[in-house]
Amino acid sequence: MSEDQKDYTSISPSAKSLLLMKGYTNIPYARETASLLQGPEVFDLSFDEKDFWFWIRVMHFENRYWTVDQLLKQTDAKNILELSSGYSFRGLDLCVRDKSIHYIDTDLPEVVAVKQDLINKLQLDQQVQGNFELLPLNALDESDFDAVVSRFEEGPLTIVNEGLLMYLSTEEKKRLCKIIHKILGKRGGCWITADIYVKRTADMRANLPQSRSESAFFEKHNIEENKFENYEAAEAFFKSEEFELVKEATPDYGQLSVMPHLLKVLPEEVRNRKEPPPKIQATWMLKPIIHP
Ligand SMILES: C[S@@+](CC[C@H](N)C(=O)[O-])C[C@H]1O[C@@H](n2cnc3c(N)ncnc32)[C@H](O)[C@@H]1O
Repeated sequence: MSEDQKDYTSISPSAKSLLLMKGYTNIPYARETASLLQGPEVFDLSFDEKDFWFWIRVMHFENRYWTVDQLLKQTDAKNILELSSGYSFRGLDLCVRDKSIHYIDTDLPEVVAVKQDLINKLQLDQQVQGNFELLPLNALDESDFDAVVSRFEEGPLTIVNEGLLMYLSTEEKKRLCKIIHKILGKRGGCWITADIYVKRTADMRANLPQSRSESAFFEKHNIEENKFENYEAAEAFFKSEEFELVKEATPDYGQLSVMPHLLKVLPEEVRNRKEPPPKIQATWMLKPIIHP
């Protein structure tokens, strides 16, 4: 399917599932916004049982969120653009705490409309000190992307995203890389992406319980095929798109708010396992390679 025909809005329901999971963590604004967005979600998650696999998923997404923050703290970014932010309120939180930040939070128009409604209902923007903007943006539309970026004052830009690249084909990923490279090449800055996912082994796939609707969603969006073969292949991909890997976030599982819940339901065999669980994802800071 060509990118012009692709309906990116079919990806958007995943954002609600993620928020409902994050509602069980201490991620800023997740609990109160999730409580307003109850109702059916696309993955058929086990909210009633809240079993081991439920908490493992919550842990994964909580960890992913904080690893982006970890790398963001290592920049002195004042201009921040978040792509495909879904129902994540990182930008709002930063702008409440820091008046020097200009954060543009973006997603597809339908998601932005629902998110704006959540912000209004809970009056979340009352304490904002920085410059927080919530705008619609299809990240693959170069002219809209440029128009959003032109709203920032001069100076380096940090682009962040989580939960998008696994929905994009190689061609779409390359297109996004080209757009970002051009912008960062001109302005300076970096790209923090939590979307370095590697393909699961057949064994891992067989052991991961997925509801029918979740499997169907994954198949429809080619999630497994869209992941990188391994971390070396991911680094080589970004290198071929003229990005260098400058930092990788270090997960701090001990600090996650989900841990006490997970420990309560940890099966005996997992508790006694000697080897660490397989690494399925990484969060990277990338910088454009600029040729003189
Ligand atoms: C899995 S959700 C992740 C949401 C959020 N970043 C999080 O981690 O909670 C994927 C998001 O990508 C958005 N999306 C899909 N295609 C997009 C595109 N072409 N441009 C911008 N956003 C897109 C969807 O609307 C959805 O909100």
